[in-house]
Amino acid sequence: MKNVATFGLCVGLVWSVGCTPGSEPDDVQPRLAPSQPNGLSELAGTMVAMDDQLARILKDMDTEGFVWEGQSLDVHSLMDRHPTDETMVNGHFEDHAPLYRQAIAQFNASPSAQAFNHVVDACKNCHLGTCPGPLERIEKRRVASDAGVRH
Ligand code: HEC
Repeated sequence: MKNVATFGLCVGLVWSVGCTPGSEPDDVQPRLAPSQPNGLSELAGTMVAMDDQLARILKDMDTEGFVWEGQSLDVHSLMDRHPTDETMVNGHFEDHAPLYRQAIAQFNASPSAQAFNHVVDACKNCHLGTCPGPLERIEKRRVASDAGVRH
């Protein structure tokens, strides 16, 4: 029951900054509008940077001569970033932050479509228990498992 309550709180408090899918009530501005006077939380800002670097690789895949070799992803620190709401950094978050770091390290050691999708899985797995809103967006980062030189 506690989990349900915490989850409800997370969704309730963060709907305006991206933790719920696009089903906000009418009086909430669209997520992309600069509706937060003080901007994103530190953690949300980090997430945007993490998402951007996946998007950058997907974009690079469209350019001629793309190879996985030499691609790398920054490891962002997650545990010391202030979230929109403290309840987001729950036990699930703490369990999954290291798994995410591990997926990034594996990608950097041996970049491939599979390793890239492991990173996407690590994003997803944490989000399932902390902040389900961006799941659809995260899913779009997945690459075809046989994505090689070009797609
Ligand atoms: C360890 C848990 C965890 C991992 C791993 C994680 N996230 Fe998040 N993410 C969160 C939490 C919690 C929030 C809410 C942050 C806040 O509002 O302060 C969030 C917020 C977001 C947001 C919304 C930002 C906004 O505009 O408000 C996006 C997009 C996002 N994450 C994408 C990703 C992507 C892409 C990855 C993988 C590269 C990822 N996340 C990995 C927990 C995680």
